[in-house]
Amino acid sequence: MVGRRTAPVRLALDGGTPVRSEMLPYAHQTVNEADIEAVAEALRSVWLTTGPRVPEFERGLAAATGARHAVAFSSGTAALHGATVLAGLGPGDEAITTPMTFVATSNAVLYVGATPRFADVRADDLLISPDGVAAAVTARTRAVLAVDYAGHPPDYDALRAAVASAPGAGPVTLIADASHSLGATRDGRRVGTLADLTVLSLHPAKILTTGEGGAVLTDRDDLAERLRRFRNHGISSELAARRDWTYAMVELGYNYRLTDVAAALGSSQLTRLDEFLARRRSLAERYRTRLADHPAIDLPAVAPGVDPAWHFLFIRLRLDRLSVDRGAVYRAMRAEGIGVNVHYIPVHQHPYYRERYPGLSFPVAEAAYERLLTLPLHAGMTHRDVDDVVAALDKVTTAYAAS
Ligand SMILES: Cc1ncc(COP(=O)(O)O)c(C=O)c1O
Repeated sequence: MVGRRTAPVRLALDGGTPVRSEMLPYAHQTVNEADIEAVAEALRSVWLTTGPRVPEFERGLAAATGARHAVAFSSGTAALHGATVLAGLGPGDEAITTPMTFVATSNAVLYVGATPRFADVRADDLLISPDGVAAAVTARTRAVLAVDYAGHPPDYDALRAAVASAPGAGPVTLIADASHSLGATRDGRRVGTLADLTVLSLHPAKILTTGEGGAVLTDRDDLAERLRRFRNHGISSELAARRDWTYAMVELGYNYRLTDVAAALGSSQLTRLDEFLARRRSLAERYRTRLADHPAIDLPAVAPGVDPAWHFLFIRLRLDRLSVDRGAVYRAMRAEGIGVNVHYIPVHQHPYYRERYPGLSFPVAEAAYERLLTLPLHAGMTHRDVDDVVAALDKVTTAYAAS
């Protein structure tokens, strides 16, 4: 008996009544009428792109994070590309990153012709391990690209120290992939001020959205200027600042601009950032209270001094106490109307990476992956929704208890 029900109930998968009749998604944007009005106003304005709403949004993001500059991009992936270029990465260089992330993180290293070197994660919070980073440093290491997995920033000072302690280490840029962690803090310091370059994703699943969108946060004026150029074809002046037809392309760049329509949505969403974060934290707290001591579930650890943004809450199943694997629990939960997900398939296990970097093994990430489930968590949810997820977990783990 591993679940917490005394009498097993027929699972929805087997024809029983589901816990919820409509699927509770694992992530969802929170858009209100003020957001819609802000977007409509941008659509009625002169500038749909390269207008005043982008810098306005950037000023708002900088103020919200404490970074001196925010440079908006058309996606988090484009922003990551900007960060790897700005870190000076190129062919022959290496960047150390985590296998427990979305592929976009390490793909940004490949975009610039550099080589990703993975370091395994810590068993309790699945954040990149400083010891693993130290062991992966070579004379070619130019960057560490850490991920604030699930909204939890790692100890960037420890990562910096790990690199510095490794024999043969040269100067290294510390990049935070903070796609999950806008609003999180570590020892009172806000995400955006912990690394040299901090990358945000503003995809609808994230803490705050512009539809598609992203940003790089930095304190350095020179880096911010180059990022603005990079996202605009490498052209040194932005359209609104030009006096005549002339412009100068001074380096190879891309069109990675965020539109004013998207920026209008972002600025409107920013006014509710604290509200979004408070709701996520309250939902996470309820999960953690309701699932504490659950016999079939391990909860993630939260390091002292960290206030995560809780992009999602992951659990690890105690497979030794269940008669089925994670896939069966996933399918049973979905049938109960709970939109669980899995974050992430370790990057080195994707075919593209396997073919190019054969033989890699990261035992902690791989073992965690087999047991991982992401539970629904977004700012539109209520405590009652959390209780439904917990009820479904109890139901499914009881039905699948190891005998
Ligand atoms: C950790 C991480 N990095 C990068 C990205 C890419 O962001 P975007 O979808 O905005 O390009 C994501 C988005 O899923 C992500 O979760």
